[in-house]
Amino acid sequence: MPPTLFSGAQAGRGFRLVLIFSGLALAASAEPTLANVNARATTSLNGKWHVIVDPYENGYYDYRREPYDAAAKPTGGYFLDHRPADKTELVEYDFDSSPTLNVPGDWNSQDEKLFYYEGTVWYRRRFDCAPSDPTHRLFLHFGAANYLADVYLNGRKLGRHIGGFTPFEFEITGLVKPAGNSLVVRVDNTRHADAVPTVNTDWWNYGGLTRDVTLVETPATFVRDYHVQLKQGSTDRLEIQLQLDGPQKQLAVALAIPEAGLTATLEPDTNGVASLELAAPALALWSPEQPRLYTVTLTAGADHLTDRIGFRAIAVRGADILLNGRSVFLRGICLHEENPFRGGRAYSEAEARQLLGWAKELGCNFVRLAHYPHNEHVARVADELGLLLWEEIPVYWTIAWDNPATLANAKAQLTDLVVRDRNRASVIIWSVANETPVSEPRTRFLKTLVDTARSLDDGRLVSAAMEVHTDPQDPNHKIVDDPFGAYTDLLSFNQYVGWYDGLPDKLPLVRWTLAYEKPVVISEFGADALQGFHADKLTRFSEEYQADLYAKTLAMLQKIPQWRGATPWILTDFRSPRRPLPHVQDGWNRKGLIGENGTKKQAFYVLQKFYEEKAAAKP
Ligand code: GCU
Repeated sequence: MPPTLFSGAQAGRGFRLVLIFSGLALAASAEPTLANVNARATTSLNGKWHVIVDPYENGYYDYRREPYDAAAKPTGGYFLDHRPADKTELVEYDFDSSPTLNVPGDWNSQDEKLFYYEGTVWYRRRFDCAPSDPTHRLFLHFGAANYLADVYLNGRKLGRHIGGFTPFEFEITGLVKPAGNSLVVRVDNTRHADAVPTVNTDWWNYGGLTRDVTLVETPATFVRDYHVQLKQGSTDRLEIQLQLDGPQKQLAVALAIPEAGLTATLEPDTNGVASLELAAPALALWSPEQPRLYTVTLTAGADHLTDRIGFRAIAVRGADILLNGRSVFLRGICLHEENPFRGGRAYSEAEARQLLGWAKELGCNFVRLAHYPHNEHVARVADELGLLLWEEIPVYWTIAWDNPATLANAKAQLTDLVVRDRNRASVIIWSVANETPVSEPRTRFLKTLVDTARSLDDGRLVSAAMEVHTDPQDPNHKIVDDPFGAYTDLLSFNQYVGWYDGLPDKLPLVRWTLAYEKPVVISEFGADALQGFHADKLTRFSEEYQADLYAKTLAMLQKIPQWRGATPWILTDFRSPRRPLPHVQDGWNRKGLIGENGTKKQAFYVLQKFYEEKAAAKP
């Protein structure tokens, strides 16, 4: 792994901001993300935060006495968290007496007045802070905020983050007081044509501080990033890379994997970057059947990190996907990051266990985390349960392909995802897009993302949900010759024959032309069904229709010689503003195999039976 240089190259994620704000000229930037935050000394800042809903961006307004003095300290602006000095002072906001929202959590599902809200909400949390050691460093770490976040500490802007599903943080060493620190975050979930995703998605635009907020303390010099995995193409050699951060860049780093009887010392260079290959002859390889995790420790001076890491090899050979050298069929399902009972963004380990537990019950060894990076708990729970993962960034539908800032944003989100999860054995595929109309600028944009993923991590497959088109001479002849398929390891695509394209009785008639000799993974198929609605199998939205479509689709797919996996759309119903049909959809996409009340539909059992037979079949 080349050193993960956290430069302005990640401008989409952490702008190097030079802000002229109310006379305050600030240069701030989002710090690169600390690896494995939960293994560190942390203080949770989760809980109830006071909020001000601000659709008119009034919070930026700076009341000033005349004459205007740009250099004077602003007395306005919600970020100042200002209280009136006396009865004469005009201040038209007050966080302490404002409503509260739970953090983590989207605002849409917490307050019905905010259900459809798109705009700015100002969050404020006060905290005390006494580092355990005066030489230690302090960071504010955010699991994610959707979509744009401006972060202020004690009235001073720390920086801005763009991207609704990836972690970010700011160093606050030397900026905190022992008590009463004011942390103000402006979150704006407004959609934009040049954003990632763009203005049109088939999921709810949940806004807010949607994941954990944590105060992290580290020694002055610490291990900022590390990557410990099998060397590509090997099952008995480890490749270790790491990066130190702090004044002692060349501090020796001790690595230990006690259960494998392995120890090593790494010697970082003047940039704090070190790499090492290590013979590891006796590793038990991770797999869905045997998800073996090893305790890995890294010690650099006073910094001591522990992680649980599995080691496995993933590769493609011709039409086969090889897991630890053996051909594997991916028995998958798609998943949105949504709490299946209350709606709203899922964010907790308990929700990850609930959702992935249902996938295991379905007979899956594979899950596609659609269409954006899910919270960090999901990949760790998948490591433990033995589920392979497809992870994705929200390059979804009609992205602004020609906009350099949009590309920088997508690259930054992909970089943050790969850096966060590349020690997770469960993750086998980085997906850079979903259903993006073919064009020269689009394919160039996606190729850049493939190169980015491979430059950060050569140990996984790269793909996307690519385009299918129909032979104009024959509606039953489906063709997959997406030019982007030349750059990916898999030939993966969504197909909805029987739902958006004809009726299920079309499925047995379909034939495929595939332009690449690569493993085929069907990244979506499915049909809507309202749980509990029963009718004949030609009645739309009935459970019978959905079940029949599943049975006929699975039969059709088995005729594709290179078929090596599927992630049907989708495990559970999920909210979408695009699904208004009264008394059937009511703002929900009903393609789930499980309804919003957690009840399984008939199609769940059709797929479960198929996966049981697939798992039992001789390899
Ligand atoms: C598309 C898209 C999904 C969407 C699904 C549907 O394939 O990838 O995000 O929800 O179809 O129409 O239900």
